[in-house]
Amino acid sequence: MTEKFTDEEKKGLYKAIHSRRDVRSHFTTKAIEDEVLSRILNAAHHAPSVGFSQPWNFILVKDTQTKAKIKKSFEEEKEKSSQLIEEPKKSKYLSFKLEGILESPVNLCVTYDPSKFGPFVIGRSSIPEAGLYSVCCAIQNLWLAARSEGVGVGWVSILSNEVLKEVLNLPNHVVPVAYLCLGYVDEFASKPDLETAGWLPRLGLEDVIYYEKWEDKRNSNWKNIQNIIKTNLDYA
Ligand SMILES: Cc1cc2nc3c(=O)[nH]c(=O)nc-3n(C[C@H](O)[C@H](O)[C@H](O)COP(=O)(O)O)c2cc1C
Repeated sequence: MTEKFTDEEKKGLYKAIHSRRDVRSHFTTKAIEDEVLSRILNAAHHAPSVGFSQPWNFILVKDTQTKAKIKKSFEEEKEKSSQLIEEPKKSKYLSFKLEGILESPVNLCVTYDPSKFGPFVIGRSSIPEAGLYSVCCAIQNLWLAARSEGVGVGWVSILSNEVLKEVLNLPNHVVPVAYLCLGYVDEFASKPDLETAGWLPRLGLEDVIYYEKWEDKRNSNWKNIQNIIKTNLDYA
């Protein structure tokens, strides 16, 4: 597997990245074939991980009673979090559809197990969070692979981890990192739902890149890339 990507292959990869969406609604009733689900999980399992610790597990859920318990936690947590904002934002927030727990055919909890291959893991002593970061890499792989298969993924973080741990029988030391809803969709929106709803805009790439030091945007050694970023982005 040492050969270069062809232009078509590169386009395919960037297409997955740019057209991936967080999906909360419009799941079709079509079941995800086990072959497809296996490929998606295998993509997740091939993510990078600190010290090759592979600290993830994937709990597949389709039991409706389990889903109902998780949905209840979502509703409680959404109500609780809405107390943190004032009107008119509060009503707008409450009107958003922010999960597809019951409608999606497969729910998936991705967990972090710090004890795997531990306690010494190369690269995790100084920055213990590197373990969690590794699980997030797996989730992103999963999200992109799912997009290429036509499967929508929605991440639900408006949940109580305590409820997740109890409902899914997680041992005490295992951390639930993501609760995901998966299902086929007929189309993927061209923009994030929260952008379309006017909640937040996408920042310009030029707004998030600094040169050499925090908040330095004018460093002359980087002029060319500054122009490209502003005017001429490929595969976007
Ligand atoms: C860690 C994390 C947690 C998220 N939690 C939720 C959530 O609880 N409900 C929801 O509707 N979307 C959730 N999202 C999705 C984001 O809202 C979404 O990624 C963002 O608006 C950009 O849209 P896009 O993913 O379609 O590009 C979450 C995303 C991440 C990365």
